Amino acid sequence: EVWNPKGKYRVVSTKPMPGTRWINLLIEQDCRVEICTQKKTILSVEDIIALIGDKCDGVIGQLTEDWGETLFAALSRAGGTAFSNMAVGYNNVDVNAANKYGVAVGNTPGVLTETTAELAASLSLAAARRIVEADEFMRAGLYDGWLPHLFVGNLLKGQTVGVIGAGRIGSAYARMMVEGFKMNLIYYDLYQATRLEKFVTGYGQFLKANGEQPVTWRRAATMDEVLQEADVISLHPVLDKTTYHLINKERLATMKKEAILVNCSRGPVIDEVALVEHLKQNPMFRVGLDVFEDERYMKPGLADMKNAIVVPHIASASKWTREGMATLAALNVLGKIKGYPVWGDPNR
Ligand code: DGY
Repeated sequence: EVWNPKGKYRVVSTKPMPGTRWINLLIEQDCRVEICTQKKTILSVEDIIALIGDKCDGVIGQLTEDWGETLFAALSRAGGTAFSNMAVGYNNVDVNAANKYGVAVGNTPGVLTETTAELAASLSLAAARRIVEADEFMRAGLYDGWLPHLFVGNLLKGQTVGVIGAGRIGSAYARMMVEGFKMNLIYYDLYQATRLEKFVTGYGQFLKANGEQPVTWRRAATMDEVLQEADVISLHPVLDKTTYHLINKERLATMKKEAILVNCSRGPVIDEVALVEHLKQNPMFRVGLDVFEDERYMKPGLADMKNAIVVPHIASASKWTREGMATLAALNVLGKIKGYPVWGDPNR
């Protein structure tokens, strides 16, 4: 699909993206916009090289693509200087290779914070109250009347929520769980989440002033403390060498038998084979997963586990957010081409 064929700068998007604002922004700035409409969900390096062609000023790409040395070399040969991932995560982008070929890299932080945190909260609640299991039970025609023990789950109020990685998304999630469900907080991050701490302190004071049990919070010295103490744990680290298989067999064994583990970050943060085994051995342990080690294939056995809720990487999938991500990605590419500031810049 081609927009503004006579535009001076050629910008390629490897996928159609939501909304039209991003297209209009590019067109207004004299770009010819080419959108790849191939049916294939994940484009290969060869597919993208063909899209880049001989002349290309900038590319908007997706987190499913392998933006390494080969693609940045191809983009640079085509005269390109700008690339933006339509994602906040950029573990699929080799930023050093981009720097080497003089290509600026952008990502899309900010617009997906609340949407992603809301999905982590949804998975936490759905797991705590066994909503998916209960829904399946109803649809299977198994409901025969109210029973005292039917789908008994956890009350979140007064339990402890654990957050690993208290950046933008982790902090928004923590705030939702503390304020929405009066949970206590324990978090682990390399940096102090000062704004989050101020919020929880203030909220605790507010509850106390109203004669309610105040919430408490603590910044853990180690991640293991969070895993051992929390009832609901949500993972929000970036994926890199240090966080690969952060949650492994040994760490799972230290968690509470009835804990809930939520992952809306990146799949390889959890050793999925070890997780399946843990779910089998501990039927009261529950997980809510938005991401998987291999996005297209869950590890054997995971789909059969009643104590797992699985959704297809939809954490940022609200209309507002996805249009915002597309717009920021376009602004990133335009920024480099036209010399405006780049919105999301992982080098900063
Ligand atoms: C991101 O932006 O990194 C998300 O995973 C996409 O939803």
